[in-house]
This record gives sequence, C-alpha cells and structure tokens, in this order.
Amino acid sequence: MNQTDLEKTAKEMVASGKGLLAADESEKTCQKRFDSVGVECTEETRREYRSLLLTTPDAKDHMSGVILYDETFWQKTEDGDDFRTYLASHGIFPGIKVDKGLVDLPGFPNEKVSQGLDGLPERMENYSKEGAKFAKWRSVITIGEGIPTDACISANAYVLARYARICQDVNIVPMVEPEVLFDGNHSIEKCEEVMAKTFDALFKAMTLYNVFMPGAILKTSMVLPGKDSGTPIDHDDVAQRTVRVLHDHVSSELGGVVFLSGGQTSNDAFINLNRIAKKGPHPWGVTFSYSRALQDPVLKEWAKDRSNKDAVQNLFAKQLQFAGNASKGELDESTLHNDNFVTKSQDL
Ligand code: 13P
Repeated sequence: MNQTDLEKTAKEMVASGKGLLAADESEKTCQKRFDSVGVECTEETRREYRSLLLTTPDAKDHMSGVILYDETFWQKTEDGDDFRTYLASHGIFPGIKVDKGLVDLPGFPNEKVSQGLDGLPERMENYSKEGAKFAKWRSVITIGEGIPTDACISANAYVLARYARICQDVNIVPMVEPEVLFDGNHSIEKCEEVMAKTFDALFKAMTLYNVFMPGAILKTSMVLPGKDSGTPIDHDDVAQRTVRVLHDHVSSELGGVVFLSGGQTSNDAFINLNRIAKKGPHPWGVTFSYSRALQDPVLKEWAKDRSNKDAVQNLFAKQLQFAGNASKGELDESTLHNDNFVTKSQDL
C-alpha cells in the first residue's frame, strides 16, 4: 500500500469545485433509463451515450473522476481511445464499480447485503494494472417497519471494510457507499438516526480491518425525509442534519465525503449540496458523485436528437457547473433550470 499516493488521489477527487460523475449504471438500470426516453439499450448505444459525457470539452474543470461499469471500463471513444486512458490523459480519474449487486440477507426480510468479495483481490489487481485509480462499492440500507436491523448494518459494514482494504492493497482509493435509501415514509429524524448508526458501524469495521482512512472516500446519502412521507424537502434542515451527522459520526481522518443524489430532483440535489457546503468548514473535502442529478436532463436531450452532440455536451457541461459551484457553496440557485427532472429507479 502506498499511503502517500492513496491520500493524494483521495484529496484530488474532492478538490475544490470538482466532483464525480457516476456513470456505472448496470445494464438493467441503463435499460430502464433508456426505455424511459425511448432509446434502444444496447452495448453500442450505452457506449455512444457515455462517450458523449466523458468527452465533453473542459469537463475536467468540474469533474475529478468518473465511476465506470465494467463494460464501459473496456470500451472506447469515437476516436478509438480506451475511455479509461482518455480520462486519465485529460486529468480525470477513471474509477470502477466492483460490487456485484445486492442479495437478500437470509433471516432478515426486506434487507439486503451486497456481494462480490470472492475473487475481489484478483479483479482489483487487474483494474489497478489497467489504470483504475479509485473504486466504488454500494451497500443499501432500507428504512421501514423494524428495519434496518443491527445485523443488516453490521453485515454491510463488514463487506465495505473488507472491500476497502483490498482496494488499498493495490493502491486504489476505495469509495465506501452505504446508501440509506430515500424510499419510504420515514421522518427526517429517523433518517438521521439510521445514518448515525450506519456510520458508527462502518468506521468501527474500517478501523478493525486496517483501512487507511486518509486514502478512502465516503459516498453517502443526505439526511432526507422519506420520499413517500409527504414531507417536503426543507433545504436548510437537510443541510443542518447532514452536516451534523457527518461531523459527529464520520472519521475526521477520512480522505473525503461525496454525495449520491438518490432520486432527489436535480435541483434539490444541487441546492442541498450548496447549503451543505455553505455550512463549512468541514474536516474533509465535500462534493458530489451524482448519476441521476447530473444525467437526467442530458439523457433526455440526447434522446431528442442523438446527432446533436453540441447540445448534449453543452447541457452536461452546465450540469457539471451547477454541481461544481454547489460544492463550493457558490451556486446562484436562481439560475437553475425551471424543469425539475427526476428518474425513479433506485437499483444501480
Ligand atoms: P444517484 O446520484 O443517481 O443516486 O447515483 C449515484 C450512485 O452512484 C449510487 O450508487
């Protein structure tokens, strides 16, 4: 493990005004997204769409890295460059999602654990050799009647910690993502309580399994009222609670903190990040690692006219600029689009 390199990469991933694009949707999730805009979902259309995003001019001004799915990791741009090489040569870190999805946690109805530890050291070694600088592993915590259980939280904390240490052994920065789902009718107080518990278990496990904190990144949800609770999002309350739970329950040694958008509208995801950033200083760089909030309007624009590369890339650049400004607490919220986009599928 090269601690200096890991720490440096983690810091650059959350450098001021920059954040990450999550472009690691599984084939199944891509299928749902493409269906929603009426584009056939094939290996080639996925490549075509992602090629536009990744080659957007000046994306590096606000994009420090991109999380790729295994299929995309090996694909090429229109000019025949491997995406991963193209990104690296443009000052953007290529990352790779490495969990193998969710399975039921036996004995615990409605709870899931993510799988993929078997064979992971060999897979990570190969990704490292091929240029991956960071990785992502997503676990899911669902809030509902009697859940999450301590068993579910600790099972997921354990796999996230094991994965993180395996990444660091091959000098890949692990992004650990315990996503507390937005789905449900829970209160914002409940969400904060569950996130506190989840972070406590996660950092205990990461310490136990010798994870080098400055060389790891937390990818987290924001503290939100459940999507079906009927409670509207109060941006200042979200920011206050999110900052409180992070400051009180996340290791201050960590390399950085990034947020997922989780099914919030693009505007909510940008405004909430802006308000969170304004509450700084924070012990770590804090920024975005969004899929839907960055991509939803862009995917629609692409579906409208796939030959209009400039329109698609200009819109994506605009989304990155909103997010980059928000990560510094410098977003002029009155400039956001009037359209409020949201895509529902949760399974990435
Ligand atoms: P969303 O921003 O759409 O939640 O996706 C981010 C992500 O990578 C979740 O794993």
